[in-house]
Amino acid sequence: MSRTRFTGKVAVVTGGASGIGAAVARLFHDEGASVVIGDLDEAGGAAFADSLGNARAAFLKTDVSDYDQVKALVDLAVSKFGRLDILFNNAGVGSFSRIADLPVEDWKRTIAVNLDAVFYGCKAAIPVMRAQGGGAIVSTASASGMAGDFGFGAYNAAKAGVINFTRTAAIDHARHGIRVNAVCPGPVDTPILSGVDAVPGLRPVWEDCVPMGRFAQAEEIAAVVAFLASDEASYLTGVSIPVDGGLTAHTGQPNLHRWMGDEVEG
Ligand SMILES: NC(=O)c1ccc[n+]([C@@H]2O[C@H](COP(=O)([O-])OP(=O)(O)OC[C@H]3O[C@@H](n4cnc5c(N)ncnc54)[C@H](O)[C@@H]3O)[C@@H](O)[C@H]2O)c1
Repeated sequence: MSRTRFTGKVAVVTGGASGIGAAVARLFHDEGASVVIGDLDEAGGAAFADSLGNARAAFLKTDVSDYDQVKALVDLAVSKFGRLDILFNNAGVGSFSRIADLPVEDWKRTIAVNLDAVFYGCKAAIPVMRAQGGGAIVSTASASGMAGDFGFGAYNAAKAGVINFTRTAAIDHARHGIRVNAVCPGPVDTPILSGVDAVPGLRPVWEDCVPMGRFAQAEEIAAVVAFLASDEASYLTGVSIPVDGGLTAHTGQPNLHRWMGDEVEG
């Protein structure tokens, strides 16, 4: 049975050319929303928006680390579709280096794309939503915002920032009818993790860290984002929901199923 949770709604999705953002944009669109996709990848974003059809989809090349470009993306949603009900702050980049070796420019870029952009999106969208009487904002944080990982210093800091910013934004605008929440994915099979398979043996070790024993598909994250963006989540604000196959439920002690002969079943 097809669902219609977003009929008549207008959504902005950043990082919507690929991975989680594309899965969310497709789901919003399939359930009736008009979607405005912002991404640095001009060819990929335009092709994806075209694949959704021009009537309820638009693309704007956007670098989310630049406030003026994020504001232009929000302005496009309003000028083309007349309103803005949902903002999905999702564009992100990884970075990998021990702290002492991490170039200052990598630190700045990682914080700018993953954290500054979430503030920029909220700053641009909230006045529009407030004037309309409400809206829903969802951001992509990460399981890596809930604890530390080897070599992920800048990314860990940025995503932890998204989680706490989500709380404050929710509190600031609760009385304006605007809900602000986040998702914290564990590993998801998207291009951002394409390097995993270039390192022999890394994937099974990483999968074994996840109690469910596998990476997520982007659609499994999209389902939770859509719930948070929908009226079904009408009393939820300020939360960051792990969508991680149990990764952050785990203390990090040895995964004893290996010694118990208890492998993942079908
Ligand atoms: N894949 C994972 O394992 C995983 C886990 C936790 C969190 N996340 C987060 O999910 C979000 C989406 O990532 P994904 O897994 O779909 O990866 P992805 O690489 O498929 O998608 C990221 C998208 O962001 C875009 N982007 C990068 N920098 C940008 C910028 N400055 N301005 C605009 N767009 C930009 C890219 O062009 C790309 O389309 C990111 O915030 C990422 O940190 C991913």
